[in-house]
Amino acid sequence: MRITVTVDGTKYSDEVEPRTLLVHHLRERLGKVGTVVGCDTSNCGACTVHLDGHSVKSCSVLAVQADGCEITTIEGLARDGKLHPVQQAFHDNHALQCGFCTPGMIMQSIDLLADNPDPDEKAVREGLEGNLCRCTGYQNIVRAVRDAAHHMRPGAGPEAER
Ligand code: FES
Repeated sequence: MRITVTVDGTKYSDEVEPRTLLVHHLRERLGKVGTVVGCDTSNCGACTVHLDGHSVKSCSVLAVQADGCEITTIEGLARDGKLHPVQQAFHDNHALQCGFCTPGMIMQSIDLLADNPDPDEKAVREGLEGNLCRCTGYQNIVRAVRDAAHHMRPGAGPEAER
């Protein structure tokens, strides 16, 4: 089937097999290898992207289901050489060790903050419960999301926005 998707602002039109998973289409056809595969069974969240503005595990979506959609991957977040505030907060709070879960954690965190701009620790942990990290024990990830929330708050000013 021919599908057209807009990924990180660029439109792509390709023939895909009906069984192709979105994550494989992104990585293997479109070269978006920042989106990674941890489990391929909807458990780890490493493959999380935004589909029409909402986070999805791209290993649980068929590429054909994304036809006509806007997709944002971790590679589409930084603008003009400036990290997205959530990326910056992960960096500032040392919220990664091996980094494998990081793309999915960041994409899920952005969706979480869109729903709840000022989450407490419990809300962050619940919002990220579909994303697994085998290194950090989650402490710094939770800290980073709350730090990002602080910097993204309306009226936080240029210093807070970085
Ligand atoms: Fe998609 Fe693990 S690779 S949830």
